[in-house]
Amino acid sequence: MTQMDIETLDRRAREILTANDRGGYTLPTAGLYPYQWNWDSAFAAWGFARFDIDRAWQELETLFSGQWPSGMVPHILFHKPDPGYFPGPEVWGASNGPIPSSGISQPPVAATFARAVLETDMEAGLARARGLFGKMKDWHRWFMAWRSEAGAIFITHPWEAGRDNTADWDSAMALIDPEGVGEYTRRDTAHVDPAMRPTKADYDRYIWLVQRGRRLGWDDAALARDAPFRVADPTMTFILLRANRDLAALADALGESRAEIDSWTQMLIAGSETLKTPEGHYTAINLRTGAHTGHITNASFLNWYAGIESPEMMAELQAAFAASPYPVPSHKVGAAEFDSKRYWRGPTWAMFNALIARGLLDMGHVEEAEALRSKTASLMAQHGFAEYFDPLTGAPAGGGTFTWTAAVWLAWASPSAGAK
Ligand code: DGY
Repeated sequence: MTQMDIETLDRRAREILTANDRGGYTLPTAGLYPYQWNWDSAFAAWGFARFDIDRAWQELETLFSGQWPSGMVPHILFHKPDPGYFPGPEVWGASNGPIPSSGISQPPVAATFARAVLETDMEAGLARARGLFGKMKDWHRWFMAWRSEAGAIFITHPWEAGRDNTADWDSAMALIDPEGVGEYTRRDTAHVDPAMRPTKADYDRYIWLVQRGRRLGWDDAALARDAPFRVADPTMTFILLRANRDLAALADALGESRAEIDSWTQMLIAGSETLKTPEGHYTAINLRTGAHTGHITNASFLNWYAGIESPEMMAELQAAFAASPYPVPSHKVGAAEFDSKRYWRGPTWAMFNALIARGLLDMGHVEEAEALRSKTASLMAQHGFAEYFDPLTGAPAGGGTFTWTAAVWLAWASPSAGAK
C-alpha cells in the first residue's frame, strides 16, 4: 500500500462516518440499519476519535441518552421512524426508556472505547468521561444482576450478542416452537441478498422471542422465568470482562471507587472458565441443556481481549491462519455449519478482528496481532468497507459503506493509525 493509497482509504473511511452521521448518532449503514445500534455506535466513537473528538464523545452520550431506569442500554434506539426496517418500535412495544427502543441489550464495548477516546483526549475528555462513568457502571451492574450464570454472561435473544445467526444458537433455537408468530414482512432481504442473511426459520424465532418480551412488558424478572432461549456466550462474557477492566481504569483516572467493578471482574473471570471445553476451547453453552456448543467461532478468540491466556486457542488461531489468507472468520473454515456468505456462519468481520488483535497485542502476541491487522487492512484496501467479507475469496458481503468497518480502519487497521 502506497502513502497515497493509505490517504485515499483514510479519507474514504472518514467520508463514510460523516455520511452515516444523523446528528449525534451514526447509522451502521443507510437502508439496512436505519437507526442507532448500540455496539456499532461505540465502534463509531473509536473511529471519530481519529478526526473529531467532540463527535466521538457525542456518539457515546447519545447512546446513553436511551438508557433505561434499570441500567439496561438497548441494542437499538429508534430516534426517528423508518418504514424500511423490520421489526420497528411498534413490534418491540418497549416504552420502558426515554427513547423508543428495542427491549434487549448488546455487547458492552462502550467502556473500552470510552477509555480509548479518553486516551486521545486526556485533558478535555475527563469531564466527558465523568458524565458517562456512572451510566456505564449502572449498565454493567444490570448485566451482573440479570445476565450472569455464575459469572458467564448469557443472552435471552440471538440479537443480544450481535452474532444473530451463529451456529452457537442452533441447539437453543431448535428447542423453540415459534407457534403463533403470525405473518410478517422482512425488510432486510430487500436490502441484501437473502443468501447473506439469516433464514426464515431463524426469523420466526427472533420475532417469536420479541413477541414474548413485549407480552411481559420487557420486565427483567418476568423475562428470566422459564426463558425459552438462554445461552452463555463468549462474546458477552469476554467483552464485559474487558469492559469492566477498562471501567476500573476509568475509575482510577476519575478518582472514583473501583471496588464493586473489581468484584464483577473476579466473577467474570470465574464465569469465563465455565465456557472452556475439556479441549481448552471457549465456546457457548446452551443453558437449557447445560451442553457446550463446541463451535469455534470468532467469539472464541476473545480470550486475550478479556486478559486470559490460552495455548489451546493460540493453536486454533494458527490453524485459522493456515486455513485462509483472510482474518479470523465467524465460523471455523471446514466445519459442518460453515457458510462463507451467511452473516455470522462463516464471513469474516473486520470489527471482530480488531477486538481479537487488541487482546493479542495487550498480552504480548505482537506478531499475531500484526498479522491480523495487515490481513484486515489488505481486505479493506481490496474490497472496501463492507459489513463483512467471504473468508474464502475476500468478496464483500452484507451492507456496504459500513460505519464500524470504516471506524476500525481509521482507529486500527490503517497504517496511519499506529495499530492500537
Ligand atoms: C438485524 O436487524 O439484522 C439486526 O442484527 C438486529 O439487531
